[in-house]
Order: sequence, then structure tokens, then C-alpha cells
Amino acid sequence: MPEKLTLSVWPTPLEPVPRLAVALGLGAGDLYLKRDDLTGLGGGGNKVRKLEWLVADALSRGADTLVTTGGPQSNHARLTAAAGARAGLDVVLVLPGPADAHPVAGNLVLDALLGARVTWVDGAAGAADLTAAAEETCAALAGSGARPYLVPFGGSSALGARGYQEAGREVLAQLPDVRHMVTALGSGGTMAGLVTALGPERVLGVDVGALPDPAATAAGFVGELTGHELPAGALRVRRDQVGRGYATLHPPVLDAVRLVAASEGVVLDPVYTGRAAAGLFAAVREGDIRPGEPTVLLHSGGLPGLLGHAETVRRAGEALA
Ligand SMILES: Cc1ncc(COP(=O)(O)O)c(C=O)c1O
Repeated sequence: MPEKLTLSVWPTPLEPVPRLAVALGLGAGDLYLKRDDLTGLGGGGNKVRKLEWLVADALSRGADTLVTTGGPQSNHARLTAAAGARAGLDVVLVLPGPADAHPVAGNLVLDALLGARVTWVDGAAGAADLTAAAEETCAALAGSGARPYLVPFGGSSALGARGYQEAGREVLAQLPDVRHMVTALGSGGTMAGLVTALGPERVLGVDVGALPDPAATAAGFVGELTGHELPAGALRVRRDQVGRGYATLHPPVLDAVRLVAASEGVVLDPVYTGRAAAGLFAAVREGDIRPGEPTVLLHSGGLPGLLGHAETVRRAGEALA
């Protein structure tokens, strides 16, 4: 197992959000944000913790090029570009095309500034297709003499999830009586790592619609990391914030983004953290999270994705008109 590469300053802050807590009907001291959006590299976000382990692995294997994949507004792809720049590695991002289908905004702007090359793949429909295309890119690079390292979709693997095992331990040190830790659930590594530190009963994952069965994927990483299979149904997962699908604008999510911004001055995003917040709000309404229970919402980043999300930009602009 490689030593990890340090890519940020740790620990990230745990901030009380009393005005938001009261707006939701919780006690003023019940709710906190874990500010993993403040990880310093490349605009910040949760993937920095995973990349500390994955890039260390790439370096230990003598790689010279990181290859990864994701949606056109992938925060993971942007942070892989940043981690590659920091480590002195080339970066190739395999993104769903065609190239002119996506406005150059948000994460794509940063990908370019960070020096990543983008390979557009037409007709790639989901995580499995994109991963197959990234594997082909690795084979082509190896054929031309490069030493590529495939960073898994979303940075999620048992190795990448170690970053969130550490995050869970950080939260336990900052708030020993934490009762609920709420996170967006995309490719599964973030939730899996938190579960290994905090236990399945304290972690609530809010599905963002990136995978067909994210709970099974997350449970698989937990099993690999701990050596123990979780009992079926052990993970707490809400699937009520997916709406029309991954990266679509779900109205309760936009409401949640607005409420957090207006009550605490903190900006979430419409694809991940806004969904986590909307799931947290629903859990409070349903009594799954109750006043007096110390609760942490993981702010996993995503602001560049908000700025690249055309419908959110349009809806925000309407409010100014
Ligand atoms: C901002 C943000 N939050 C949360 C997640 C979800 O993390 P995971 O893919 O580990 O489930 C992602 C994944 O891309 C993300 O970009």
C-alpha cells in the first residue's frame, strides 16, 4: 500500500450553521458543515482526499500520465487535472462528447487552465461506457510509450475511499457525539469511507443518480476496506432527490441551495451537495433526523459545477431580472 501524497491542509473545518439549523426546525447547536469544499487544490472538493491515495499509487507504479473519466462537468476530472499538475504528471480526461455539445464553462474552463488534455467520446452513455473508453485510451497511450494510470470513475475504489475513512475519523475528533453524517452518494467512495469510520447507522447517503445501484457499489468498497461484508440493507440511502436523473435540476435541490446560501452565506451545488442538503431537509421533516441529534452535512465542493450548470445559471439570472 503506498503512502499517501499530501495535496491539501488537514483537517478541514467543521462549522456550526445555527441559522440553517433553526430554519429547518432543529436546535441552533445541532447542525454543522464539514467544509471539504475548502480543500485547497484546484478549486477544492471531496475528490482531493481520494486523489491523495490514488496519485501516490500512480507514482509508486512509475506512471507518467493520469487518465480518468466523468461527465462534462465532472469535479473529479477537474481535481484529477489539478492533482496531476501538482505531481508533475500528464492528465488525459475522457469525457462524453461530441466536443461542441457542451458550453466551455465551469469545470471545463478549469480543466483547460490546469493543462489537461480532453478526449471526447461520442455515444458514451454512462459510467460503464466511459470507463471502457478510458481503458481504451490507456491502451493507446501505452502503445505509444507512455505509462498511463487509470484513476477510477469518481476516484472511487477501496484505495480512494481511504481518504474518506480519514475524513470520518477527523469528524469523530471534531464532534465525538456526531449522530448523523449526511453525504451526497455518487460513485460511492465517499460514503463507503465514512461508513468504515463512523459505522453504517450514522451515515446517510443521498443518491445523486450517477450509478444504477450506488448502495451496492458503496457496500462493496466497505467490504474491501474492512474485510467484512455489510448485511443487506445496512446502508442508509435516500433516493428521493434524483428527480429526472443525474445532473438534472431537481426543484427541491434548487430550494435547498438557495436556503443554505441565504441563511449561512455558503454556496452548495445543484448536482451533489444541493441534493445532499435536500435529502437532509427531507430526513428532518420525516423525523429520521431529530432536534438534539448532532448532525453534519458534508460540503463536498462542486461550486465550479454550479457555474457550468446552464439551467441553474439561467434560474439564478431570472431572480436578477
Ligand atoms: C462535489 C461532489 N460531491 C460529492 C460527490 C460524490 O462522491 P462519490 O462519487 O464518492 O460518491 C462528487 C462526485 O463526483 C462530487 O463531485
